[in-house]
Amino acid sequence: MVSFVTGAYILAALLFILALAGLSKHETARRGNQFGMAGMGLALVATLLLVLDYLNTDYLDQGPIVVGLVIIVVAMAVGAMIGIRLASSVEMTGMPELIAMMHSFVGLAAVLVGYNTYIEVADLGVQSDAVHNGEVFLGVFIGAVTFTGSIVANLKLSAKMKSSPLTLPGRHQLNLAILVLSAVLMVWFMLADGWVAMAPLALMTVLALVLGFHLVAAIGGGDMPVVVSMLNSYSGWAAAAAGFMLGNDLLIITGALVGSSGAILSYIMCKAMNRSFISVIAGGFGSDGGGPAEDRDYGDHREIQSGDVADLLAGASSVVITPGYGMAVAQAQYPVAEMTRKLREKGVDVRFGIHPVAGRLPGHMNVLLAEAKVPYDIVLEMDEINDDLPEVDVVLVIGANDTVNPAALEEPNSPIAGMPVIEVWRAKDVIVFKRSMATGYAGVQNPLFFKDNTQMLFGDAKDKVNEIVAALG
Ligand code: TAP
Repeated sequence: MVSFVTGAYILAALLFILALAGLSKHETARRGNQFGMAGMGLALVATLLLVLDYLNTDYLDQGPIVVGLVIIVVAMAVGAMIGIRLASSVEMTGMPELIAMMHSFVGLAAVLVGYNTYIEVADLGVQSDAVHNGEVFLGVFIGAVTFTGSIVANLKLSAKMKSSPLTLPGRHQLNLAILVLSAVLMVWFMLADGWVAMAPLALMTVLALVLGFHLVAAIGGGDMPVVVSMLNSYSGWAAAAAGFMLGNDLLIITGALVGSSGAILSYIMCKAMNRSFISVIAGGFGSDGGGPAEDRDYGDHREIQSGDVADLLAGASSVVITPGYGMAVAQAQYPVAEMTRKLREKGVDVRFGIHPVAGRLPGHMNVLLAEAKVPYDIVLEMDEINDDLPEVDVVLVIGANDTVNPAALEEPNSPIAGMPVIEVWRAKDVIVFKRSMATGYAGVQNPLFFKDNTQMLFGDAKDKVNEIVAALG
């Protein structure tokens, strides 16, 4: 049985690697998900078989094990029901906060596994092994940081907590002090035995919970995408630590895959947002971009109506569409795809420019456009489109705001200073689709709206694009 389970674990690990490879491209993402589902199904079955095998061992008192097995099956059924309900009802725009909440569960699980593992040793009164104690300590530490950090990320993303960074005086020193104290407690924990060692473990847990809260609370809303992928990485390491504690190889492999892929994604996003990777890991980098936004008068904006936009588009030879969070909210991707089709039929060259953090989760816009069957080859990344913009006749900014904000390049004091943006204002004409003059996610005014070549098309993006589609005939 054990060798069968080992074989199943190796196969599941391979399926997880294939899943990650598949998820790296739009065309293969669905297949990647299927590999992941198959791997997880196999891992669950193999783990249950392992429990059953344990159950068959003669020298064990079978009563509590049967109860344990029933609890596992009931917990899996309840968990599956909640998971299916949440996943099928969540809007794409609510995905990051759901993911953040899931990460908090992984963190909590690692804390509970750590305590359980140590209590077993303490209860049996056996001499504990220092290396094993080290694993328990680190697992609980990473798990507790991930737990509170993910809860804060969830609250910030769902606007239940203010998204502005919490800037306590001496906050970096506070983080450092917690790290140093935790290291001291780790030495105490590894040297102590039995129930006495619970004291450093419990003290460290409280410190790690505070650290998780503080690390994420100190990061501003505009930088939340990096935080979500960083917590993804932390949750992977927490799972790997739980794998060491439980002696489960698959959990170690899976945790390491999640931990490293999350770290790579965080690094890519940091590069895309011009943030230092190290300062993200240290937390509180959100406010380092500058002071509070200035209340500056940018002048007046101009308005345009849908019919005039349709005329402008029909007369253009090159059009670029930069979608953002508002396109997702309005669910405007279907009329946008229809408008693209009509313009291409008229011989207009239409391309999409996608900012790496447009929307609310990595690849958000790509998923929506793929869903509406926009051809992949006209969907370009920010770096691929930026240099071509001076030759473009019309740019349609559909529900994007921070990702096309020139203040990021022009105003060193702006909270988004340094973030690369799609430089739409370099095109001949810019049309901005939004409902009001309200700010975007980062809460900063956008000077683009007041530029001479910009016109605002106010209203729900889906309604406005539908009107343009109708006017194009
Ligand atoms: P945002 O800056 O969030 O702006 C979206 C704009 O859409 C708003 O100005 C809003 O203006 C407009 N809007 C909302 N509903 C609309 C509707 N029904 N019809 C038309 N317009 C509508 O968008 P962005 O440019 O995509 O930037 C993304 C921001 O989110 C960045 O700051 C990024 O750092 C952050 N973020 C990103 C992620 C990831 S991983 N992508 C995760 C978390 C946070 P009105 O209210 O006036 O309509």
